[in-house]
Amino acid sequence: MKNNIVDLLSEKISFISKEDLAQLIEIPPKPEMGDFAFPCFRLAKELHKAPPMIAKEIADSITVPDYIDHIEVLGAYINFFMKKDSFLKSMVDKISEDDFGSSTEGNGKTICIDYSSPNVAKNFHVGHLRTTVIGNSLYKIYEKLGYKVERINHLGDWGTQFGKLIVAYKNWGSEEAVKEKGIEELMRIYVLFHEEADKDPSLEDEARAWFNKMENGDEEALSIWKWFLDISLEEFKRVYALLGVEFDHYTGESFYRDKTDAVVKDLKDAGLLTDSEGAKIVDLSEYDMAPCLILKNDGSTIYATRDLAAIKYRKETYNFYKALYVTGQEQKLHFKQVFKVVELLGHEWAKDSLIHIPYGLVSLGGEKLSTRGGNVIYAEDILKEAIAKIRETIDVKNPNLANKDDVARIIGVGAVIFNDLYNQRIKDVSFNWSHILNPEGETGPYVQYTYARCSSILRNAADYSFTTDVNYDLISDQSSVDLIKELSRFPKVISSAAESYEPHFIARYAISVAQTFNKFYHDNKVLVDDVETRNARLLLVSLTRKVIRDSMSLLGIGCVEEM
Ligand code: ARG
Repeated sequence: MKNNIVDLLSEKISFISKEDLAQLIEIPPKPEMGDFAFPCFRLAKELHKAPPMIAKEIADSITVPDYIDHIEVLGAYINFFMKKDSFLKSMVDKISEDDFGSSTEGNGKTICIDYSSPNVAKNFHVGHLRTTVIGNSLYKIYEKLGYKVERINHLGDWGTQFGKLIVAYKNWGSEEAVKEKGIEELMRIYVLFHEEADKDPSLEDEARAWFNKMENGDEEALSIWKWFLDISLEEFKRVYALLGVEFDHYTGESFYRDKTDAVVKDLKDAGLLTDSEGAKIVDLSEYDMAPCLILKNDGSTIYATRDLAAIKYRKETYNFYKALYVTGQEQKLHFKQVFKVVELLGHEWAKDSLIHIPYGLVSLGGEKLSTRGGNVIYAEDILKEAIAKIRETIDVKNPNLANKDDVARIIGVGAVIFNDLYNQRIKDVSFNWSHILNPEGETGPYVQYTYARCSSILRNAADYSFTTDVNYDLISDQSSVDLIKELSRFPKVISSAAESYEPHFIARYAISVAQTFNKFYHDNKVLVDDVETRNARLLLVSLTRKVIRDSMSLLGIGCVEEM
């Protein structure tokens, strides 16, 4: 329909390309302003006339085609009122397409997403939960737009902390305790190490020596490290299974340990390395940044060195169009430095294709959560609690429901994910159970409830079979039209989310679809006796169900038929 208007306008306005005309066409905020509006401000310069005058002249010159009901001029705008039926049908046909919302814009392009990336031997906390669900949603969004996505888990599995852990394990740990308690025990002895090292600094030297052994391939050191890694991965994978999140590559920091020499060499050859108190750095003062540390004074590599090696590896291996990094905003400077260093190495692409995607803090009851010290919060515990709470509600409200455990998991986990994705990334997220699980709030359960309602209506219309050949006059009331228009926004919403790396556009949209549907449902009885009316309304129920399911899926959230 919009393309028809573009063609129509293009006959009158030859000096603007069809693409630009399409960009200029607006969807008016109010129905009395028509279905499409064309503002004439841009034409004033070229035509040397006032925009309202131009609007009038163009409108008068158009022979109204049969798909348009009438054309009105309002100020500088030409407003198009489409013939209701053909307009509605064209939207509905589009929404009905199997690949509605998909596109081919990403074909032939690869995007690397580095997300989740928890630290081995530390708990998977709520901050990691956020990077995991944001990264997973971005993966779904880009895949929908035709990109090839490489999902990368850059585990924090290398560094001096493992030397400390080995010392702690040898002094105060036991195989049984680690086997029984896993990460919790590793965290306990890690904290103990710091307490003891305060009293006896020689422990630090011992730890450094052990990490050195690791870097030099010492068998004993590596086998203890590998054991800690496996134990941690087992716990992390339990969280991923709950969330339904998968990765293409578990290439953690340790993966790059034989790839950092090449980076150091590149930096040296480019004349970028300078000495600073025995350490090697890249000076970034010209760019108002602290120097990027590359080698410590004992020659060991650090987080940034391994990130530089990872970028080189990913560019060579995947030839990415973009590489995204989803981490907390406290790592902003780190990525700015690393990206700048890549650029200084002569890689122009660093400017546009390396992108840090920061997000805000997660707090529980207003408290900042920390990984070490007293209040250790495990993401897994939060997810399990959400599931248990939903399970209790089901037992009270719908005790005969089939697959209660599956439903509780999908709704409970979905509620936590939805809460993480509902606001702009950079905003802090707070956990408040009564809000997150409220089926009447702007929440996951509200959207899922609406989905289940659509499913239930369709179940009760056993004889219904889907068709878009309905009498559109019967769904031309305001709330039906609003619903159709809302559903047709889906592709645009996906693009906005992709362009700004913001899954919250999708989450907000899912709420808005659910609300618009519930208004429609309130105003219109669906299962009426009149078959024509019933089929027309069932069409909208079935399209709503589809768009909700697809939106939730882009957030990494499932839907259930009954709850
Ligand atoms: N392991 C880090 C953390 O938990 C996140 C790693 C992010 N990715 C990267 N390539 N630096 O904070």
